[in-house]
Amino acid sequence: MPDNSLRLGVNIDHVATVRNARGSAYPDPLRAARIAQEAGADGITAHLREDRRHISDADIDGLMEVLSVPLNFEMAATPEMQAIALRHKPHAVCVVPEKREERTTEGGLEVAREENRLAHFIAPLREAGCRVSIFIAADQRQIEAAHRIGAQVIELHTGAYCDAHAEGRFADRDAELESLREMSAFAHALGLEVHAGHGLTYDTVQSIAAFPEVRELNIGHFLIGEAIFRGLTPAIAEMRRLMDEARA
Ligand code: PXP
Repeated sequence: MPDNSLRLGVNIDHVATVRNARGSAYPDPLRAARIAQEAGADGITAHLREDRRHISDADIDGLMEVLSVPLNFEMAATPEMQAIALRHKPHAVCVVPEKREERTTEGGLEVAREENRLAHFIAPLREAGCRVSIFIAADQRQIEAAHRIGAQVIELHTGAYCDAHAEGRFADRDAELESLREMSAFAHALGLEVHAGHGLTYDTVQSIAAFPEVRELNIGHFLIGEAIFRGLTPAIAEMRRLMDEARA
């Protein structure tokens, strides 16, 4: 892959959300994952939440078996999740805040305050060969802490930028974008690989994809929603096209 490449990780959590609404086996997130990889996803992302509200343990077993692209396993920093990750040894682990949907302002992981615990938490994952990513806000303190604990990757939280755009708060949106731009460059200069995600849509993806330091975008909810209207393959193809256009 050329150095300038930008990977697309497709998050399939919300296929499982729809499945679980009926308590049946349909629609199957594994089928979505297969379609996504054929449609150009460079990786599949799945978040095993502590309450299993969408992705299940069996989904993770299945993804580890069927995927030909890397699995990015999102999880909270708990002993239970660490044990599951160590059993599967996925290509990548992304550590995200626990119970983050209970917060009004969804943010990234508080690394700076939990540096010691998180350093011990990620060490065995790294030793097992997983690429460890930390989901954080565009905040210099958090980035420095993520670097100190030994994470190879940070994923910058794009939720505030996307929300400001969706709500027409364009001055806020532009300020968020500027922070994301500055912090992408800052993290890259520290030697961290930079990813970004949360809330990205066709309208918001290009500004982020244009940051040269960003190597991967993880996108879920919008793509699964858009799949209802145009099908999963065309929905992903259009996202890929926009990313490539922004990058060119
Ligand atoms: N990146 C991380 C770390 C996430 O937790 C999520 C949501 O699970 C995403 C990206 C994707 O966000 P969205 O579903 O809003 O595209």
